[in-house]
Amino acid sequence: MTLKQENLLHLSQRLSGVSESTTLQLNAAVQSMKAKGLDVINLTAGEPDFWVPDVAKEAAIKAVQANCSKYTPVTGILELREAITQKTNQQQSWIGQTHPWKASDVVVTNGAKQALFNSFLALLDSGDEVLIPSPYWLSYPDMVKIAGGIPKLIKSSYSQGFKINPSQLKSALGPKVKILILNSPNNPTGAMYTRDEFAALADILIHAPQAQGVWVVSDEIYDRITLDNTPFCSFLEAAPELAHRTITVNGMSKGAAMTGWRIGWSVAPKIVTEGMAILQGQSTSGINALAQWASLAALGLPDQYFLSQAKNFTKRRNLMLENLKKASKLELSVPDGAFYFFIGVQAYLKSGEDSISFCKNLLEKAKVAVVPGVVFGEPKFVRVSFSTDEKTILEGCQRIVQYLESLKTWG
Ligand SMILES: Cc1ncc(COP(=O)(O)O)c(C=O)c1O
Repeated sequence: MTLKQENLLHLSQRLSGVSESTTLQLNAAVQSMKAKGLDVINLTAGEPDFWVPDVAKEAAIKAVQANCSKYTPVTGILELREAITQKTNQQQSWIGQTHPWKASDVVVTNGAKQALFNSFLALLDSGDEVLIPSPYWLSYPDMVKIAGGIPKLIKSSYSQGFKINPSQLKSALGPKVKILILNSPNNPTGAMYTRDEFAALADILIHAPQAQGVWVVSDEIYDRITLDNTPFCSFLEAAPELAHRTITVNGMSKGAAMTGWRIGWSVAPKIVTEGMAILQGQSTSGINALAQWASLAALGLPDQYFLSQAKNFTKRRNLMLENLKKASKLELSVPDGAFYFFIGVQAYLKSGEDSISFCKNLLEKAKVAVVPGVVFGEPKFVRVSFSTDEKTILEGCQRIVQYLESLKTWG
């Protein structure tokens, strides 16, 4: 939904052309169908279906009992910021060994979303351009617009595994470019950049004359959800030379299934961290104290905890792949991370049809909800989430395949 013209008369210019999050909207539509008793299979989920780890729940209860519920420092409790630097220093090993991140480089935020928003507000002036590889997580362009920036898409196609290459990055550069957003593992495609691929992009940012003032915002929120043991590479692991102009964003939402606890963070050089702390101090202040203590406990979980969830997601991905393959004309690329398939449905679209009407028909006729790719910048694709149990995945895939087969006869 974009705001109506007449309502915009009362609202700031900043809101024109900015839309409501379609995935949240879709989820609401599905919930209301379910409430009416309709048998809908929901494959739109953007959150893990696992429960929050017990240690996090226990830590939150203890924090309540110990009255740890006053205002916290704007940038977060020290213990949590230290745990975040420990994690980041491990994932960015050269930096960790030579000039490690300190607690003062961290801002704990209201989900990764606020860390991204803080980054754009802190760095962008009106008219600055932000390079966004497409397909992209749907909130990036709107956040950039609210912050006064101009989203500039770099298209990465299905045939290139939905990853941009150095020559595309080089030709997208220009005098107004201020930020490049990277997101690996990626929502919606599940694509992951290898260390070499990141290093090749970094090479452009280090050497191209027009890239000298460009910052990287690396959204690493799915770092814990890598499939088939595909190794996760933080951008600064591949490009430590760019530490002075990179903001690493991460949080508890996906890996620890703590979406509703709203804990994210940024790790960034002093100058931007100070700017973001001022922004946050005058807007939300420090984040919910209890959720911070709970997050500290969850960050201390052994790797094994996260690996077993990733293993579970791998099993679900394989189940979905095996079943969706039965619709032979789908363009299926196998995700390496996160919990989505991003599927080309072009062969099944009638002339003039896009993924929005495709998804509406699929919901109406087969009672399966998936997200239209148009919201991620690809009108002929759909995003199908496997963050649900195996029975639901199987039933959903069977309905999708049956629906696609029936399309031939409907003509
Ligand atoms: C790529 C990406 N970045 C950031 C976020 C926001 O995460 P949070 O819920 O921690 O704000 C999401 C959530 O869906 C996401 O998919």
